[in-house]
Amino acid sequence: MKDIYPDQLRDFAVELALDAGKILREGFGTTFAIEAKDGKHDIVTEYDYKSERFLLDAIAKKHPEHLCVSEESGGDILGKDKVLWVIDPLDGTVNFSRNIPFFSVSIAAIFNQTPLCGVVYNPEIDELFYASREGGAFFGDHQISVSPADNIKKAMFATGFPYNVEENPFHCYEHLTHILSLGVPIRRMGSAALDICYVANGRYDGFWEVILNPWDYAAGALILEEAGGKTTEIDGTPLTYTKRCSIAASNGSLHTSLLDHLAVIH
Ligand code: IPD
Ligand code: CA
Ligand code: CA
Repeated sequence: MKDIYPDQLRDFAVELALDAGKILREGFGTTFAIEAKDGKHDIVTEYDYKSERFLLDAIAKKHPEHLCVSEESGGDILGKDKVLWVIDPLDGTVNFSRNIPFFSVSIAAIFNQTPLCGVVYNPEIDELFYASREGGAFFGDHQISVSPADNIKKAMFATGFPYNVEENPFHCYEHLTHILSLGVPIRRMGSAALDICYVANGRYDGFWEVILNPWDYAAGALILEEAGGKTTEIDGTPLTYTKRCSIAASNGSLHTSLLDHLAVIH
């Protein structure tokens, strides 16, 4: 990782997220083109593409030696021995398409599976989360840390569901009903990247979701780690950035308890 400086990449990623956020803000609330990727709820808008085009061009201009993988254009998620930017140009597209101001731009840079920086920005309410490896996690100008909660029965969690939820993949209904049966309040807000950041600044104590893509969680997972929390696969194995996976994220103190409760259902 010689000549790679996580703080510099983070500062660049913050600029990128703020500028991509302007593009999304211009589109929010207007009439725009929407295509269905699966014939139903998995949609893409012209603003997913506009934000993505801007990000890919800006990275190629500043760092032609880097690689990119992003939701709508793809790329080599295994990219080796180079900085790899992992991008969701609009996380929470369904919210965006319905005028709900809970969506984000999510940008991470990783190198051979080590996250270097992560930025998640909600342009509509101007909330910015960012972190660099060993540089701490920030919300706006303030360094953040996770909640002190250590009793699952007093916790609040968030979750999300994949677009094929009606197939109940990996028993996601049962996870929900089991956690609910503990009396735990649960939010389903619709942007996984923001959900993980809300664990990082203590708004939530934990989050889980089956079948996410690396661009949904790469930036948030580093921000959460730098805020003192933890993200793993739902079975407790360490996170990787090369494949879809089901994840659990927490303030750290509740991690074992969250995993144990999710493992009640196989
Ligand atoms: C989706 C959001 C949502 C989550 C879905 C994701 P998209 O991403 O993060 O919260 O529940 O699983 O696919 O499609 O809006 O980029
Ligand atoms: Ca996403
Ligand atoms: Ca997206």
